[in-house]
Amino acid sequence: MNFEAIKTIGIIGAGTMGQGIAQICAQAGYKTILFDINTQVLKKAEATTIKNLDKGIERGKLTEAEKQTALANLTYTGDTLQLSCDVIIEAVVERLEVKQSIFKDLDAVNTPDTIFASNTSSIPITRIAAGIPHPERVVGMHFFNPAHIMKLVEVISGAATSPEVAETIKQLALKLDKKPVMAKDAPGFIVNRVARHFYVEGLKLLEEGVADAKGIDRLMQASGFKMGPFELMDLIGVDTNYSVTSSMFEAFHYDPKFRPSRIQQQKVDAGYHGRKSGKGFYDYQ
Ligand code: NAI
Repeated sequence: MNFEAIKTIGIIGAGTMGQGIAQICAQAGYKTILFDINTQVLKKAEATTIKNLDKGIERGKLTEAEKQTALANLTYTGDTLQLSCDVIIEAVVERLEVKQSIFKDLDAVNTPDTIFASNTSSIPITRIAAGIPHPERVVGMHFFNPAHIMKLVEVISGAATSPEVAETIKQLALKLDKKPVMAKDAPGFIVNRVARHFYVEGLKLLEEGVADAKGIDRLMQASGFKMGPFELMDLIGVDTNYSVTSSMFEAFHYDPKFRPSRIQQQKVDAGYHGRKSGKGFYDYQ
């Protein structure tokens, strides 16, 4: 699929990332369909999109007419997964089998040109593509949180990804006003590989009782980081961050330096998923 031919984009998963990705696609003029199995999540995504666009108007970055055009470009669906689009971007839970099954199902109802992009944080694209009928059309398109603000996008080619597909996704990222960086396929790619230790070591300090979450966050901020590890995990989603660490631990053959934390696992089990659930390492209620 050539970049100019892209007219429709389907986003699968309307959570923290899917909502923001759908918003910017609609703002860039694409007919965008946002799908989620959870209708409550879809309603929340719609409300967040309107709130974000209104904020854009307040800040003088957007006109009322542009907001209306973006809203008209965006549709929400929770019906059966049968979207037919030029580009599909999946942003569902960080689990290999879920991502593969979505791409497989969608391959059957899409054109021979449709590109299947994954927003995975850590799962190698080669592994996702391995179970798909057309691995050459599977590519990584890794946005950062919040997707409507952060400029960086890692574009990841798996072993079978065609260079044309990677180039088309790079061009699409530019059209979305992002700064794409081409990355090779490795667990966690570039940013998450380096950043993993920010979270893992922060959690170790907490487990060892060296300092509390707030103290560690304050210190990291004072040393120049925009956010400390615990605030950032709450923003990302404690559950998503835990899944990413678990996936990297496994992918690096259980190297202890990537071992997930029990404190974090307990938060996930308790449903303390961060800002999106109202409670994580901090309380947002
Ligand atoms: P989230 O938990 O906020 O949202 C995931 C959504 O997927 C949920 O709304 C859920 O209902 C939906 N879902 C689950 N199974 C589904 C299925 N079979 N079909 C359709 N929808 C389904 O997760 P989040 O944080 O948005 O993460 C999504 C992906 O983006 C993950 O792969 C994650 O690693 C990646 N990512 C997350 C970032 C973050 O900061 N949260 C940053 C960059 C990438």
